[in-house]
Amino acid sequence: MIVLGIETSCDECSAAVVRDGHEIMSNVIATQIELHKPYQGVVPELASRLHTEWIQQVVEAALRQAGITNKELDAVAVTSRPGLLGSLLVGVSFAKCYASALGIPFIGIDHIRAHLYASQIETPLEYPYLGVLVSGGHTVICRVDDYDRVDVLGTTIDDAIGEAFDKVAKFYDLGFPGGVVIDRLSKSGDPTAFLFPGPSLGEEHRYDMSYSGLKTAVINQKDRFRKEGAEDTPENIAASFQRQAVGILMKRVRLALEDTGLKRVSAGGGVAANSLLRAELKELEKSGYTVTFPSLKLCTDNGAMVAGLGYRYLKDGITSDSHLSASARVTAFKKN
Ligand code: KG4
Ligand code: ZN
Repeated sequence: MIVLGIETSCDECSAAVVRDGHEIMSNVIATQIELHKPYQGVVPELASRLHTEWIQQVVEAALRQAGITNKELDAVAVTSRPGLLGSLLVGVSFAKCYASALGIPFIGIDHIRAHLYASQIETPLEYPYLGVLVSGGHTVICRVDDYDRVDVLGTTIDDAIGEAFDKVAKFYDLGFPGGVVIDRLSKSGDPTAFLFPGPSLGEEHRYDMSYSGLKTAVINQKDRFRKEGAEDTPENIAASFQRQAVGILMKRVRLALEDTGLKRVSAGGGVAANSLLRAELKELEKSGYTVTFPSLKLCTDNGAMVAGLGYRYLKDGITSDSHLSASARVTAFKKN
């Protein structure tokens, strides 16, 4: 079965063709990064306008690169929630019309589940596993029992981890997108130059995280945390911030693994591209855990993860009806 996956939830306009949930025949990602750069953040109105202008060409390019015509498609899957409403609406409206014109099913996909599913496309991992979803909008540690069964164990109580990377980078004018720049600068910085604090949230928030305190410390109070003699350079700030941002997450991941007894871990989302996080997750293998994460191209927003998850629903006979609309909100999870 061949599924076209469309992703327009934020600033990437992407379409991909995936056969049988695993063979990525194409994955076209038209990024709007350069156009949002002057504002050092994504401007929602601009994002939706660009999606409207680009979507048709992006889908055509995905079909062309896959070497198929749209008559060979079995379904169209599209991110329908959560995300920027205007951007989501462009993808959902397009997908509905496209599927209807071709007389094939259309499937609305939850963006968070799609990120969690991304690594399954390339490296199938047996369920259940501990899911670590880290992106610009979400920071979630969860138990994943199946492609559609996700129970949240912990989440951020304020800023998302990617948002903290982006805001720190914006404040120090390091570049955009912040996560990528901080990751790069950190490679030549001293991660112990600033000993930034982590949150103490209490036992009822055992797996929860907070990034707003760290962000404030880095932005407003960094000199309080500078080690004697350490240089105040962008590289040192980046490396010290990154060490603590990843540390906050990894501490909860280790706790959740110990408590749940789960032996497998899989990460997804834009921040799963972070080199320190990948290295620290890999370290868990030394303690006997199986660890997977998507290749870099499947970490940030992409149509392939949407098509891959769409295939799973299609295989189980689950499709969406034409009344399904876009939703900006996270509605799909329950926290135990
Ligand atoms: O998954 P994604 O493309 O969009 C959302 O669903 O939010 O994630 C984007 C986020 C941004 O905050 C970006 O700064 C971050 O992922 N990011 C990174 C890295 N690459 C992207 N953060 C840290 N290190 C990276 N290498
Ligand atoms: Zn995303």
